Amino acid sequence: MSLHCLIYTSVAKQKMTDNCLKSLLDRTRPKNSALSVTGMLLYIDPYFVQILEGDLEDVCETFTRISKDPIHHKVSLILKKPITERNFANLAMGFNKVSEKDIDSFVSLEAFYKSESFRKQSKEIIELLEMFKNETLF
Ligand SMILES: Cc1cc2nc3c(=O)[nH]c(=O)nc-3n(C[C@H](O)[C@H](O)[C@H](O)COP(=O)(O)O)c2cc1C
Repeated sequence: MSLHCLIYTSVAKQKMTDNCLKSLLDRTRPKNSALSVTGMLLYIDPYFVQILEGDLEDVCETFTRISKDPIHHKVSLILKKPITERNFANLAMGFNKVSEKDIDSFVSLEAFYKSESFRKQSKEIIELLEMFKNETLF
């Protein structure tokens, strides 16, 4: 068992209504539970930011599946590293919607997709994901 976390961002190709987001989570959570993958997904229209935690093999398999989902594109790996304990242990996949105005301007996903500089800001992204870990929307 080699516990790892992986963080990526992506861009939704379609308008994500609440029903679309709920159906995405309905497809996702049973798979994560089966693999003991935990984490948090944020939707910051039109961006996704997600952290996956679990055994390295399971996290990589899940990320491969996610990367192929036609709902989004520009899937960009930000961080993959070993961890000693899970940060989102109770969540098969937590979820929240965030408005750009709710977050500090330094966490600008738009800037990331323009400059790729966001990759260096993984600390800020982890802080952002953690801010919402006790506030799962649905
Ligand atoms: C933003 C986003 C997040 C996703 N998160 C997960 C996830 O945490 N776990 C997972 O198994 N699949 C995730 N998926 C993938 C899809 O839900 C995928 O349709 C599902 O895993 C079914 O895969 P299958 O068609 O190979 O059975 C995600 C897809 C998107 C677009």
